[in-house]
Amino acid sequence: MPRISNKPIQLLKGFKDILPEHQKYWDFFMGKALVLLQSYGYGRIDLPVIEQTNLYLKGTGKHTDIVSKELYNFEDKGGENVTVRPEFTPGICRAYIEHGMLNRPQPVKFYAYGPVFRHDNPQSGRFRQFNQLDLEVIGSENPVVDAELIIIAYRLLESLGLSVEVRLNSIGCPECRPEYITSLKQYLSSGGRKKSLCENCRERYTKNPLRMLDCKNEQCQQVFKEAPQIVDFLCDQCKKNFMEVLEQLDDLGVLYQLDVRLVRGLDYYNGTAFEIYLKQDDLTKSQSALVGGGRYDGLIEILGGRPTPASGFAIGIERLISKMRELKIEPPIHKKPDIFVAQLGSEARKECFRLFERLMSRGFKVAEAFSKDGLKNQLERADSVGAKFSLILGQRELLDKTIIIRDMQSGIQEIINYDKVMDVVSKRLETASSSVKVYIDKDNANKGSDKNEVEISGPSGKDEPIDKNKKPKYKLNPSSDDNERTINRL
Ligand code: HAM
Repeated sequence: MPRISNKPIQLLKGFKDILPEHQKYWDFFMGKALVLLQSYGYGRIDLPVIEQTNLYLKGTGKHTDIVSKELYNFEDKGGENVTVRPEFTPGICRAYIEHGMLNRPQPVKFYAYGPVFRHDNPQSGRFRQFNQLDLEVIGSENPVVDAELIIIAYRLLESLGLSVEVRLNSIGCPECRPEYITSLKQYLSSGGRKKSLCENCRERYTKNPLRMLDCKNEQCQQVFKEAPQIVDFLCDQCKKNFMEVLEQLDDLGVLYQLDVRLVRGLDYYNGTAFEIYLKQDDLTKSQSALVGGGRYDGLIEILGGRPTPASGFAIGIERLISKMRELKIEPPIHKKPDIFVAQLGSEARKECFRLFERLMSRGFKVAEAFSKDGLKNQLERADSVGAKFSLILGQRELLDKTIIIRDMQSGIQEIINYDKVMDVVSKRLETASSSVKVYIDKDNANKGSDKNEVEISGPSGKDEPIDKNKKPKYKLNPSSDDNERTINRL
């Protein structure tokens, strides 16, 4: 057992609390995601956070950074080597095999959502615990699946108010990739190029040569500028599949860039691989991808299943939310409460509890501050939550069988018959939501017969995020020179 020190206990490095005031971004994100996921027919899967370490050694790949440097793994009390998941993909494939999902109508479309763990060096946008929304489609080799996944990710980010750009490549298959690797190695072995590569690339040269291409080192990038490109080595099938994905994206106006050096950091990919970035982002920053994914037709077989094609992606939610906050994109404000119930005195509080429940059961959006005693404090709370009306019940009103209704915007108060409170509230809200100049009708009040004219603004009803820096909409069918050059060569 470690010694218990007297120092205040703080968060671990690379971990973050998500405070109540930030939950609105998470709710907004998941709300938008669920609409898309339901429309496209994805079913939720929840997996254990801990799996056998072998799942990731085999699945994610021994030579990936995630496995070789970043795994949170340990021996459990039974002596089994286990790992806290660094990604969802191998776990979902394991579940697909273990539950015999091959026998279901194919493809099976999954989504999973939750924390993943990588013991990386924490920095801006890079955490040790972060959350992913992960989508996997298992059991179809049709490239339309790749296009659908890209479109879902793209539309989701757009719907949050972010202008994004897809970067994509095809990294070939076990048929065509070896020839490309040979050619790449030949290029690097000649003219002393290999010697000028960074230590990491020299190590990858033997262990994981394709990964050299996305090295962020300036000097390595220079060397790879003139290197052979995988698009020139794709077999007919890979070429055809990739072209079909691009055609779909063109058709739907998805903004993309071909990136011949995009290879992804996990071992299982083949064919279409993609990442999504914020348009105005600095693409040289290695931690700036918001989404990463691609096809992985060999993984189910590697994990012991029958050969089954698959494709998927994951969104890094912390990165996404920090971009939204940087760009001052505010989620729409939740519908404000219609009614705030305020009380004065213990008997009135008891009655207010009952009234609160009745209002809720009639479908009104209600708020309260029953733990506060003073009326001033309670009305301040009513103001801060944006209630349209407050109902105020004190000892006197209890005796008189009345209640006070206060228009929170105008401050006008009236005494109404307690038995008619539901009807009055409904009527007032109906009038308020019409967002026009209205008359406060006092026909239910015990005293006073004048009609007071006040301005009441209706609910904003806004559903779209507010992007204060919103740039003009994305271009349709971009045809940057790079895209055209690469497509022509395919
Ligand atoms: P990945 O590229 O490792 O792919 O991660 C996906 C996304 O997770 C990244 O684009 C990024 O937004 C976020 N992310 C990654 N590492 C960190 C970190 N240390 N801190 C914060 N956010 C991070 C995968 O995980 C694959 N399983 C995706 C996939 C699904 N491919 C096929 N299916």
